[in-house]
Amino acid sequence: MTLDEERVLAVRAMFQRIVARYDLVNRIMTLGLDQRWRARAAALARPHGGLALDVGTGTGDLALALLARGARSVVGVDFAPAMLARAGAKAGRNGALSLALADALELPFREASFDCVTAAFVLRNLPHPSAGLAEIARVLRPGGRLVALELVRPRQNLRSAPLRLYFRHLVPILGGIVSGDFAAYRYLPRSAQSLTANDLARAVAEAGLEPEGWWELAGGMVSLHLAVRPKGLEPPPHHDG
Ligand SMILES: C[S@@+](CC[C@H](N)C(=O)[O-])C[C@H]1O[C@@H](n2cnc3c(N)ncnc32)[C@H](O)[C@@H]1O
Repeated sequence: MTLDEERVLAVRAMFQRIVARYDLVNRIMTLGLDQRWRARAAALARPHGGLALDVGTGTGDLALALLARGARSVVGVDFAPAMLARAGAKAGRNGALSLALADALELPFREASFDCVTAAFVLRNLPHPSAGLAEIARVLRPGGRLVALELVRPRQNLRSAPLRLYFRHLVPILGGIVSGDFAAYRYLPRSAQSLTANDLARAVAEAGLEPEGWWELAGGMVSLHLAVRPKGLEPPPHHDG
């Protein structure tokens, strides 16, 4: 098994373990702001009347926000079955949300299937975020919108210093106590170190998407990116078998 494969398995096992308190920890550690960020991401995706894909949907909050914004139908994919089970329970009988077990690096959809694609707090968990973005670019229709929300390494400045201290030192303890899983919430600030907002903007452009803008939230600890698949983006070569 390669190191990347080992890492993917470890990340999946971690998300399987923390599902019971996942939403609660999010609400507590962001003082409820996480739901506002998702609402903003959903609005930026302009899903109204279209078919949306939410990659790494977790417990489905962003997928539900896309439906609230008028998406005709939303598909949420995740590689952790326990997360999908929770998303399904939240969606109840809402038939406009379909959930599928799938790897973000190998999306089981045809080229140009979706009007918009969202990914919240997912890309930094992939061994290579650029590979996930290439898959997203493939399944987006030309003119379709990508919205990515991500925890990133903020610029070192005085304004972000208290938040950085909170995130690095208090969140692991708080998340550990509430979830009972200290390892998972030590991973959280560590994983946020892997990517800056600039890295993400560059990776989005390298995937062939046209960046439309990005915004800093939470003092620069969270970044929100909007990009569009250009009309002329060539589909990747087709491989049989
Ligand atoms: C931090 S959670 C974010 C969940 C949700 N998007 C949200 O806003 O709360 C990351 C999610 O991405 C999923 N994930 C991570 N790597 C993945 C991969 N390679 N393929 C599919 N899902 C993945 C995890 O199982 C987890 O549910």
